[in-house]
Amino acid sequence: YTAEHQPEGNSGGWQGQSRSRDVARTGQGGGEGNVCGIVGYVGKRDAAPVLIEGLHRLEYRGYDSAGLAVMHRGRLRVTKTAGRVQDLRDKLSGQTAKSTIGIGHTRWATHGEPNETNAHPHTDTAARVAIVHNGIIENAEQLRDQLQASGVRLVTDTDTEALAHMIAAELAEREDVTLEDAVIRTLHRVEGAYGLVVLDIKNPDQLVVARNGSPIVLGLGENEMFVASDVSALVRYTRQVIYLEDGEIATITASAYHTKTLTGTDNSDNKTPTTVDADAGDYELGEYSDYMRKEIHEQPDALRRALRGRLDDRFATARLGGINLDARQLRNIKNVKFLGCGSAYYAGQMGAALVEELARIPADAEPASEFRYRSPVVDPDTLYVAVSQSGETIDTLMAVQELKRKGGQVIGAVNVVGSAIGRECGHGIFLHAGPEVAVASTKALTNMAVNFALLALLLGRVRDMSAANGQRVVNGLRNLPEQVSRMLNAEDDIATIAHQYAAADHMFFIGRVRGWPVAREGAQKLKEISYVHAEAYQAGELKHGPLALIAREMPSVVIIPSDDLVAKNLSTIEQIKARGGPVIALTSTDIPEGLADATIRVPRAEPELEPILLNVPLQILAYHAAAKLGRDIDKPRNLAKSVTVE
Ligand code: F6R
Repeated sequence: YTAEHQPEGNSGGWQGQSRSRDVARTGQGGGEGNVCGIVGYVGKRDAAPVLIEGLHRLEYRGYDSAGLAVMHRGRLRVTKTAGRVQDLRDKLSGQTAKSTIGIGHTRWATHGEPNETNAHPHTDTAARVAIVHNGIIENAEQLRDQLQASGVRLVTDTDTEALAHMIAAELAEREDVTLEDAVIRTLHRVEGAYGLVVLDIKNPDQLVVARNGSPIVLGLGENEMFVASDVSALVRYTRQVIYLEDGEIATITASAYHTKTLTGTDNSDNKTPTTVDADAGDYELGEYSDYMRKEIHEQPDALRRALRGRLDDRFATARLGGINLDARQLRNIKNVKFLGCGSAYYAGQMGAALVEELARIPADAEPASEFRYRSPVVDPDTLYVAVSQSGETIDTLMAVQELKRKGGQVIGAVNVVGSAIGRECGHGIFLHAGPEVAVASTKALTNMAVNFALLALLLGRVRDMSAANGQRVVNGLRNLPEQVSRMLNAEDDIATIAHQYAAADHMFFIGRVRGWPVAREGAQKLKEISYVHAEAYQAGELKHGPLALIAREMPSVVIIPSDDLVAKNLSTIEQIKARGGPVIALTSTDIPEGLADATIRVPRAEPELEPILLNVPLQILAYHAAAKLGRDIDKPRNLAKSVTVE
């Protein structure tokens, strides 16, 4: 994202290089896989507390087991738990042995039982080598068979354990082999995706790190070095980082690092450190009891950040230099297609509506997970927008690669600088939401939508949109942060409604046109954190089937923007009420008193921007329903924040 105007406070990290190399395939093969957090440390401090702190920061990424390995008096000390990082901390609390090098891992198992044995780190039989690994080794079964045939006793169900034995065997083969060479040789036999860190007790001052399809970042300190799968684990210690590319390996010691490709080319000279634009405070809970609520309340600031420097009053348009397209190229775009997964896909739907409305260009959104598999027709006149908070979602990354292979024009809309999708796209829109920690996306989704409003405005103003109309949208955008603040002040009222309906087993979210993506995202938020089954329906589709489900036990949230469909939405409410279904109306307009059982009002915005506002109360509704039900809000069951495997 080279050329984009950088709002103040955002330093560096935009030098996304385009990568043409293929990222490893993931998924299909055998082996136990995981999406999780990795940390590593080598330096002067006691390693275990640094690792625990890092794991704690990464816990939102995966959290069914955790473990660490440190080196003490020439031996590995491995501690694991089938529980949370806190359990690991408790397990370690009696230990006084100090160590200055170690690796740690928090796991979300995608295959293989999440028990203590399968938790990382894994070691070879002699406990010489310890390894932590994210991703999936596709030929794991074959590698495990070969190891067993050569007499190795495997003690876990994991693919990662095979790597530990293989690296140890390479090291044992020849005295003069370096740890790095042993890892390279092993990885040449491996198919699949990995981000990994290796510790060898006979190389007690170094860690070897490799990446292929699963993020790895090095943190540079003073006489100490850190490794992690996400910068959030590092920012407490350093903001100077180096992102590894796919197919790269690094050896780090307390005072130095060097990187090379797995094919053996030294490329340390090409690696300039990036300064991370977040600090430890961004990851602290502060006055909040959980990240989701904190992030909901950060939305006015997140919106201000997204808008800063990007509204142009002189020409009544938006500035988005990072997309790297001039007016003529923008005019040549005939279609816009948004690709993302989950909430990022729903944000894409909001984006598509904005582009159609403001720029009058046909636009749509599709789940990236579908797009990548259906052999899509790629149109050279379409602008594809890959939408991702983390920038690491494998389905979205693969969709981008599919597009690039077919000559498609793709830009990214990502929140994490230096992420795989950001770099793969090379150009795009940086979301500026700030770090999002809770699994459920809130401020990132809001910032996606507002960034798409900027894109739509820009596309509109190089076409037929008048300056007066453009200025109306500019003013409307400028009002959003304050309007969201006002809605946040109504949190208690929304909480009361949430508490009233939290006992429902099922809920409908009904919207039409501008209200439809809002309904989908509202249902998504409720189901993922409260586990209440929620389904979104277009209002007009109700009578074609789902109306049969309306009953006293089935509350519906009906979304009523201030558009020319208000009367239709009111009659939808009547249809539901007539069948005994309770209704929560979510509206920016006046609706007859007593029509709905409960009403949530949002300030009136410019009509095209209303979905951005209407979405916020549904985050609050989901949050308080989940809180009432006693759910672990930041870490909903079975989910992880950054889905880097299929
Ligand atoms: C829901 C949620 C997920 C993500 C999806 C894509 O609250 O957070 O549906 O939106 O996994 O993630 P990113 O945006 O990181 O690609």
